[in-house]
Amino acid sequence: MINRKNVITLSQFIAEEQLKHPSSSGNLSKIFRDIKLAAKIVNRDVRKAGLVDILGEHGSTNIQGEEVKKLDVIANEEFMSSLKQSGDICAILSEESEEIIHVKNSRGKYIIAIDPLDGSSNIDANVTIGTIFSIFKRKSPVGDAVTNEDCLQKGENQIAAGYILYGSSTMLVYTTGSGVNGFTLDISIGDFCLSHPQIKSPKHGKICSVNIGNYKDFSSSIKHYIDYCNEKGITGRYIGSFVADFHRNLIKGGVYMYPGTLKQPEGKLRLMYECNPMAFLIEQAGGKATTGDIRIMEVNPKELHQRVPIIIGSSNMVDNAMSLINS
Ligand code: AHG
Ligand code: MN
Ligand code: MN
Repeated sequence: MINRKNVITLSQFIAEEQLKHPSSSGNLSKIFRDIKLAAKIVNRDVRKAGLVDILGEHGSTNIQGEEVKKLDVIANEEFMSSLKQSGDICAILSEESEEIIHVKNSRGKYIIAIDPLDGSSNIDANVTIGTIFSIFKRKSPVGDAVTNEDCLQKGENQIAAGYILYGSSTMLVYTTGSGVNGFTLDISIGDFCLSHPQIKSPKHGKICSVNIGNYKDFSSSIKHYIDYCNEKGITGRYIGSFVADFHRNLIKGGVYMYPGTLKQPEGKLRLMYECNPMAFLIEQAGGKATTGDIRIMEVNPKELHQRVPIIIGSSNMVDNAMSLINS
């Protein structure tokens, strides 16, 4: 039986949070309204995939040379058009766009970085996919042209980050720097409702998530850690959608790694669209995120589509991985 008495919608929650923290970084409610709308549209499309012609390849490759799926394009278009509405965003950085997208005539002070559809390789197999976003404030004065310096900011400067998970249910999980809260889309009322208040990353976990197909290309220290996990009975779980692997480990406890390989020393995941937002979320939930050398949030971005190696998850597991890797 569902108790309807205590339903708190995302909009109510954001309004209440702003009253509690009047000195916080500004009014994000319009941006979240637009994220929510695009999320609902993409959710509708994802749920219809298979019935209408939106599965499969788009027939192009992105800036990173990866195959673009039709749903990648649809999700990108939905988020772009929605995010341009608020008036609060002056520039959008998208995994699907080579350059900074300048929002025309915007007096907005916020910049958003977005991976519109994460886990593309899983789309056609009806496996969980998601959207990841990161919001920060421009440095230059409002009204001026947005600069590279405005866009290439450290993760530490994020004022909000989150993701939407199109899974067995659809969830929106976000932080503005005072904890992590999760909302589930109730399609009967068409709104995201608070379902996971103040999510805490378990300190310990029993899951290690890594693409074991890359094992032979890993450094001996990474191999050493994976072997250690095997010996200790730490189980392997790897979906291949970062957002889904991250969410499972956030709830259950675990560590996710996408280390560098011989072919790709920087790994695969992108700093601005994937690693920074998840690092902000995990730290707010009590976990950790590192490149193996420094905190992800301290990395100084040099380019929009920069990749970084990542180890992220339960604090004790990340600490343990680091001490074995550096031993
Ligand atoms: P995207 O679909 O946005 O390009 O991201 C794919 C990423 C990430 O979601 C996932 O964890 C990783 O690529 C999987 O890569 P491998 O197939 O190399 O394991
Ligand atoms: Mn991605
Ligand atoms: Mn993507």
